[in-house]
Amino acid sequence: MNLHKYLLRTLRPAAGLATLVIILLPAYAQRGSGPGTPSAPWMNSSLSPDERAALVVKEMTLDEKVSLLHGTGMAGLSPMSPLAEKSNGGAGYVVGIPRLGIPAIQMSDAAYGVRSSGENGRYSTALPDDLAAAASWDLDAAYEYGALIGRELRAQGYNMSLGGGVNLAREPRNGRTFEYMGEDPVLAGKMVSQVMRGEQAQHVIGDIKHYALNDQESGRNAVNVNIDKRAMRESDLLAFEIGLRESNVAAVMCSYNRMNGDFACENKYLLTDVLKNDWNFKGFVLSDWQGTHSVAKASAAGLDHEEPGEIFYGDAMKKAVESGTVPLAEVDDHVHRILRSMFATGVIDDPPRKSVVDVVRGFEVAQKLAEQSIVLLKNGGAQLPLDASKLRTIAVIGAHSDVGMLSGGGSAQVDPPGGNAIMPPDEGRTTWQAHIWFPTSPLKAIRARVPAAKVEYDPGTDFSSAAALAKTADVAIVFAEQWESEGMDLESLSLPDRQDDLIAKVADANPHTIVVLENGSPVTMPWVGQVAGILEAWYPGTRGADAVASVLFGDVNPSAKLPITFPKSDADLPHPTLVKPPKESTTESGDTEAWKKIAKGLPAFQVTYVEGLKVGYKWYNAERKDVLFPFGYGLSYTTYSYSSLKLTSGKSVRLSFYLANTGTRAGAEIAEVYAVLPASAAEPPKRLVGWTKVKLDPGESKDVTIEIDPWYLSIFNVDPDAWQVLPGQYTFLVGGSSRSLPLKASVDLK
Ligand code: BGC
Repeated sequence: MNLHKYLLRTLRPAAGLATLVIILLPAYAQRGSGPGTPSAPWMNSSLSPDERAALVVKEMTLDEKVSLLHGTGMAGLSPMSPLAEKSNGGAGYVVGIPRLGIPAIQMSDAAYGVRSSGENGRYSTALPDDLAAAASWDLDAAYEYGALIGRELRAQGYNMSLGGGVNLAREPRNGRTFEYMGEDPVLAGKMVSQVMRGEQAQHVIGDIKHYALNDQESGRNAVNVNIDKRAMRESDLLAFEIGLRESNVAAVMCSYNRMNGDFACENKYLLTDVLKNDWNFKGFVLSDWQGTHSVAKASAAGLDHEEPGEIFYGDAMKKAVESGTVPLAEVDDHVHRILRSMFATGVIDDPPRKSVVDVVRGFEVAQKLAEQSIVLLKNGGAQLPLDASKLRTIAVIGAHSDVGMLSGGGSAQVDPPGGNAIMPPDEGRTTWQAHIWFPTSPLKAIRARVPAAKVEYDPGTDFSSAAALAKTADVAIVFAEQWESEGMDLESLSLPDRQDDLIAKVADANPHTIVVLENGSPVTMPWVGQVAGILEAWYPGTRGADAVASVLFGDVNPSAKLPITFPKSDADLPHPTLVKPPKESTTESGDTEAWKKIAKGLPAFQVTYVEGLKVGYKWYNAERKDVLFPFGYGLSYTTYSYSSLKLTSGKSVRLSFYLANTGTRAGAEIAEVYAVLPASAAEPPKRLVGWTKVKLDPGESKDVTIEIDPWYLSIFNVDPDAWQVLPGQYTFLVGGSSRSLPLKASVDLK
C-alpha cells in the first residue's frame, strides 16, 4: 500500500483531518499518484538504470538506504531479524521499500540448479555441475544452462541468483572445484559470462563469485593468500574480468579469504582499484555469508552490501554515517549500485511470478547438457560404443549405480525429487554435506538399452564378488565416485574407499572393463592401463544415467574436452600438500558464538602462490611434467584431421584451417588454439586463446576461421598497470587438445 492510501485509510474516520492530510502529503501525492505507483518518475523505463536509481536515492531516508545494505540474518551465521519471515526461503532476503515501489531482493543459491527446493516444498532441475558445463566448451549450452536456472528461480519467486562460481582451479583438491569452471581464465570467463547472460535475460540479478582467490575451503575464513599482481591479473582475476565484461552481470560476491593482507570484502585493490575503477563495474558487491568484517574500512574499500545479516551494515553503518566516519556519499553510491542493478536486470519492471517449474523441459535440458559434457577419456580397442545387438551379459558395479548418481554438496546442493536415492523413500533429506544421490539409475538406463541381455548389479563392496560377476560378463562397467562439497577439501585426488583396488580387481577379471567416473575434481588412476574405457561423467545432474547410457551405446558421440588437467599424482601439483589452517584459525562445529569470532576476523595463516602464472596446464607444461590426461583433451567415436593453417594479422590475428571428420560417425570437434608469446614476455609455454566447436558428418571437412582477441595475447604489465601486447614473434598452435596441436604458424606483432 502506498503512503497516500495508507494515510487516507487510517484517517478516514476523522473527517476533520482531511485538510491536514492534504497539507502533509508531498507534491506527488497531490497529483494523485504515490511514489511507489507506476507513475513515479523512476518507473519510466525509457530512462537509463542510472537515471532511475538516482531519482530513487533522492527520495530515500537514511534508514531506507541502510535497509538496502544488508540481509535479514541467517540462523547460526548471524542474528535473525523478525523481517526475515518474509523471506522466500532462499539464502538471502533484503527488505524492499514499498513506499517507493522497490521490491525485496530474494536471493537463492543456484550453482547447478536452484537450492532449497526440498525444504520449501518446491522442485528444481539439477543440471550437470559447473565444471561439467565448462567441459562442453559450448557457449550456447552455457547460455541455456543459465536460462534454465533463471526461469526456475523466477518460477520459485526469486529475483537474484547466487551462482556464477568462477574461481580458477589453482588447488584442484578444493571441495568446490565442481562449482567452478576449470583452470583456464579464458574458458572459465567466457563460459561463466554466458551462464550469467542466460540468467539475466530471464530478469533475475546474476552474481559472479567468489571474488577472489578463494581456492581452498580449509580455513577459508582466515587464510591469507599471497600472490603477485601480474599472476592474479592474468589468471584468477582475468576469469572474473572476462565474465563481467561479456555479461554485464549485476552483482559480484566477494570471498571469505584474505588477499595480500586484507580480507577480500575489505580489499581496496580488489573491490575499488580493479573491479570498480579499472573494469568499470557498475553493479554491486555483496559479501559472502559472513565475509564482512568492518564498517568504515569495508565501505571505503568498495563493499556495497553485507550478507547474511547486519552485524556491520545495519545500525553500525547508520551511526557511522551520522558520526561522519562513513561519508553519506559513499552510502549513496552503495545504494545507487543496488538500485541500478535492479532496474538494469528488469526485476523492478518485470518481477518474478510464481509458477510451476517446467519439470519436463528441465529433464530435457539437463540430459542434453550432460550429453555435451561427458568426456571420453579412454577407448582401447574401440570398446565403445557398446553394440546392443551383440551383448548378452553386462556387469554393472559400484557407486550405488543400481539407484542413482552423485551430486556435489554445500550451498550448491540441489534437492533430488523424492529425496536421496540411496535412502528409503522420504527419509533422504538433503542436510548440509550429506552425500546426495539423484534417482537416475545407470542400471535401469543400461537395461533399457539391452532388454534381451542379462544386466546384473554388484555393489562393489566385496571385491571378489564384483570380480566374479565381471568374469561372467561380456562387459563390466564400474561406476566410481569422488564426493566433494563446500566446507571441505579432498585429502588427495585418489578415489576414496579403495575404489582403485575394486577397479583393478574387476579389470583383472574382465579385459572389457569400462569405468564411469562421478566426481567433482580430477582423480588419479593407477589402473588406467588396465581398463578398456573411461568416461568422465562429472556430477551429471538429474538425467545423468540416461546421458551416460546415450554415450555408452553411441546415440551420442562424445564431444566434450577436459577444462582441467588430470595429473598423475598429488606430488605433481604446484602444492603437493594442501596447507591446513592451525586450530586458532578455525571454529568448532556446534559453536554458537562462531559467527562473532568470524566477524572479528580469525587469525590469519599463509598460503603463497609461488607458482604465480603457472595455473593448471601452464604449470605442467612449464615444469615439463607428464600428465594423466591434459587440459583440452577428450576423445570421440570418430576421428578428425587438421590441415592447411593460414594466419592473417591486422588489428587482430585470424587463423583459418581445414578440419575433416575422417571417421564413420557424425561428430562435433572442439578445435583449440594456443599461443606461444615472445620470450620477452616470460610467460608459461602456451595459453589458450580461442576455440570453436565444429559439427561434421562422416567424410565432411570445413574451412574453420577463428579470430583471436588481442587481449588474450596480452600480458598484464604491472609498471604501467595495464594490458600490453609485447612486440615480437607469436606462434599459434591448433589442434584437439593442449598436448596434441598438429598445426603451427607464427607472426611478428609490433
Ligand atoms: C557460500 C556462498 C553461498 C552463501 C549463501 C556461503 O557459505 O560460500 O557461495 O552463496 O553461503 O548460501
